[in-house]
Amino acid sequence: MRKLIVAGNWKMNMTLQDGIKLAAEVNEFFKKNPTEVEVIIAPSYIHLPDVGRSLSSISLSAQNSASESAGAFTGEVSAEMIKSTGAQYVILGHSERRTYYGEDDNLLRRKIILVLEQGLKPIFCCGEILAEREAGNHFNVVKNQVETSLFDLSADELDNVVIAYEPVWAIGTGVTASPDQAQEMHAYIREIIRAKFEETAAENMTILYGGSCKPSNARELFKNPDVDGGLIGGAALKADDFIAIIQSF
Ligand code: 13P
Repeated sequence: MRKLIVAGNWKMNMTLQDGIKLAAEVNEFFKKNPTEVEVIIAPSYIHLPDVGRSLSSISLSAQNSASESAGAFTGEVSAEMIKSTGAQYVILGHSERRTYYGEDDNLLRRKIILVLEQGLKPIFCCGEILAEREAGNHFNVVKNQVETSLFDLSADELDNVVIAYEPVWAIGTGVTASPDQAQEMHAYIREIIRAKFEETAAENMTILYGGSCKPSNARELFKNPDVDGGLIGGAALKADDFIAIIQSF
């Protein structure tokens, strides 16, 4: 069965106190109003344990993890450390990591394996920049990202991976992909998975849309058969907006 997921990527926002408050508000709402959608929040690394302690009805994710398992890597945070905070998910390959920190698909392949080894679930982000879409190259770009980072996995490993399609031109810009553009790419991603792994892997794969998703457009996006939820940035920083997006299902 394909899981529906809405994840809030808080990026580099929220003090510890504000983060605990926001997490508690969202958690409390879904404790009282249970949903079949898996709700995930992704605060900064240093807030994971404290924010995690206030959660009972929603899940916890990191926004990144190291490309090495342990040792002399000053400033890095390993998958094992993330696991020890109680988190269940790790966002990997966000376009901001790719653009500002030079992460590429080969590095991400290593990170995905380390995360899976710890029993954590990677939320693997892919997506094209505007120039690539305008050149009609967006399908190839996404195909390369997915192939390079995920195609060495077994079907069992892939079963623990979530894919997030985030067209870079839609992130934080207020310009959302149209429901048709999202559906088209999500169906394409599922097709690539189907061609490489078996039918079950493709059918079970949760594919999230991310990029200026908000309460006013979430319903139209989530209505599509291949859009299984969202990865939310700005709108995840306000409990009311985040909850409204989840309720769009
Ligand atoms: P926005 O929702 O702010 O566009 O960000 C999307 C995103 O990057 C989620 O990871």
